[in-house]
Amino acid sequence: MSQEDGSLEARLEEQDTFEPPESFVEQANVSDPGIYEEFEENWPDCWERAAEFLDWEEEYDDVLDESDAPSYQWFTNGKLNASQNCLDRHVEDGAKNRAAIKWEGELGETRTYTYGDLLNEVNEFASTLRDLGVEEDDVVTLYMPMVPELPIAMLACARLGAPHSVVFAGFSADALATRMNDADSEYLITCDGYYRRGDALDHISKTNEGLEDVEHETTTVVVDRLGDALEHSLSENQHDYDELIDEHAGESVEPVSRDAEDMLFLMYTSGTTGKPKGVKHTTGGYLAYSAWTSHSVLDLKPEDTYWCSADIGWITGHSYILYGPLALGTTTVMYEGTPDYPDKNRFWDIIERNRVDVFYTAPTAIRAFMKWGEQYPAQHDLSSLRLLGTVGEPINPRAWKWYYDHIGGGDCPIVDTWWQTETGGHMITTLPGVCDMKPGAAGPGLPGIDAQIVDEAGEEVDAGQAGYLTVQKPWPGMLRTLYQNDERFVNEYWTEYSDPENDEWVYFPEDGAKIDEDGYITVLGRVDDVINVSGHRLGTMEIESAVVGVEGVAEAAVVGGDHEVKGEAVYVYAIPEDGSEPGAELEEKAIEAILDSIGPIAKPEEVIFTHELPKTRSGKIMRRLLEDIASGNELGTTSTLRNPEVVDEIAEQVNED
Ligand code: WTA
Repeated sequence: MSQEDGSLEARLEEQDTFEPPESFVEQANVSDPGIYEEFEENWPDCWERAAEFLDWEEEYDDVLDESDAPSYQWFTNGKLNASQNCLDRHVEDGAKNRAAIKWEGELGETRTYTYGDLLNEVNEFASTLRDLGVEEDDVVTLYMPMVPELPIAMLACARLGAPHSVVFAGFSADALATRMNDADSEYLITCDGYYRRGDALDHISKTNEGLEDVEHETTTVVVDRLGDALEHSLSENQHDYDELIDEHAGESVEPVSRDAEDMLFLMYTSGTTGKPKGVKHTTGGYLAYSAWTSHSVLDLKPEDTYWCSADIGWITGHSYILYGPLALGTTTVMYEGTPDYPDKNRFWDIIERNRVDVFYTAPTAIRAFMKWGEQYPAQHDLSSLRLLGTVGEPINPRAWKWYYDHIGGGDCPIVDTWWQTETGGHMITTLPGVCDMKPGAAGPGLPGIDAQIVDEAGEEVDAGQAGYLTVQKPWPGMLRTLYQNDERFVNEYWTEYSDPENDEWVYFPEDGAKIDEDGYITVLGRVDDVINVSGHRLGTMEIESAVVGVEGVAEAAVVGGDHEVKGEAVYVYAIPEDGSEPGAELEEKAIEAILDSIGPIAKPEEVIFTHELPKTRSGKIMRRLLEDIASGNELGTTSTLRNPEVVDEIAEQVNED
């Protein structure tokens, strides 16, 4: 490291506010600070700004209809099609030969789809799906890894007005079946397998295992990703993607006209109870919001090459690999594999080769890069980068500064974007061409987003105090309901701080947060039973129910403990049944059960057997204490416990390992 770099690092450590560079501001999509006031004064009509990013077949009547709150309706009676907005109009506007998706496989092969290519293949696949029987409003499940056929299938569904439900490929067979059953989904698009750290992973066997538990007939299309690397045969009702595409070569399908409020997709996510929630997003509001935030927060322009390293199986990939960027006509990069294959240069190599302008990743990845060392990015020309982003979990100032310095070269603003599956798009973050940045604090609510930090009684807390994050006004990208469960929708998000009698509705995202004098919000993490492992949202109740299903386990508590790279890690505390031996075998069974019911992302850091769990006098498990033990924190008072003596016993065991 040169002396100059050394002093930069020292300076960074001291600094807690960063201004966006003049060169960035000059070219930014949004650079007028007046935008906050403009949105506030003009609310809700300000949201026309978002709707303007779309092509509407029929203009909407009202921006917002609040008459049935909290079932808000946006852009009422507007008509549009999402695939037409992401493809056809760009081709018509002369962008036929512009790259839409630049895909890179883990083994190094690349495929580029221009907007013209993508439109053709989406048309062919939409025609295929229609032939297979898919009709408007049928839910199509996509259980696929990061192959180009995943976004193609999503856009083909959108073209037909058939909502997609993407199930992350790393989820288990059980998780697939649960989601398909919940959505009554009779169509499945999947893949034979994919590459992870150079190995060909079998995905089709897992798919077939899941299908055995699906309660209805299913028609399946299988993408051949691995060729000869994996021998597999298709059963009746299973079709080969390439063969179908060949049969439908050159065909096209008129985009189905959808109401703004019609469902674009379902996305299952974890909540407080065991059962995943099917979050419903709509065609008009969601698409307008993802396009608007891609423009204002990610600063995307049609001529940009942009890379978001998330998986499309999560909301980040939906909004910010696919819908937002393609609605704006940008080139979006898609990478199949891991950041350390064939070596730890991979990400920087992708950025350098593709001249990536804007890069969006997760704090957990940044912490891993820091651990690997700055020598990897230092070997690459990253000067094409203009803006950096993070998402999924809080970013600690040290990781922020490392990212700023070693990836951004000290002249790229960073947007730390707080949002959720439910919000559809960014909610709390700086606008990169307007705001100063404060490492660790996501920023103020975006223009038009009324984020407030309140206490238990719903009163706004003073600056510097911690409280609960709330959103006091609706926004176009918001979820509309939980699939076929309006009651749970209201219970989960609209009860804590709302006043239904006075028709006042406040959205509660279940995060804790604090706010500074200047309105900058620091998100502190979930206050429900959801944990955030490497930016993946997991329900501890789901993991718990897998563990208590194991023969030999009487009771279990699952909590998140601090983890240097993952942010949080899964800790399982389990009580063996009388006569059952705690030990390696039972541990193995518990882990197996978790992998079967959720998948490897939920694999525990540790399984701790104990004869009792710390409980309050009323019999509630003291999870906070179990979290502190797992995190190695100082333990607070245990005097309110019924069985304080177990605490030391458990803590000793955790420390031993
Ligand atoms: C957390 C991911 C702090 C938060 C887009 C939220 C964050 C949950 C941030 C949603 C951030 C997301 N700072 N925490 N910038 N972004 N979170 O649904 O706890 O997978 O409630 O959506 O991630 O996770 P989800």
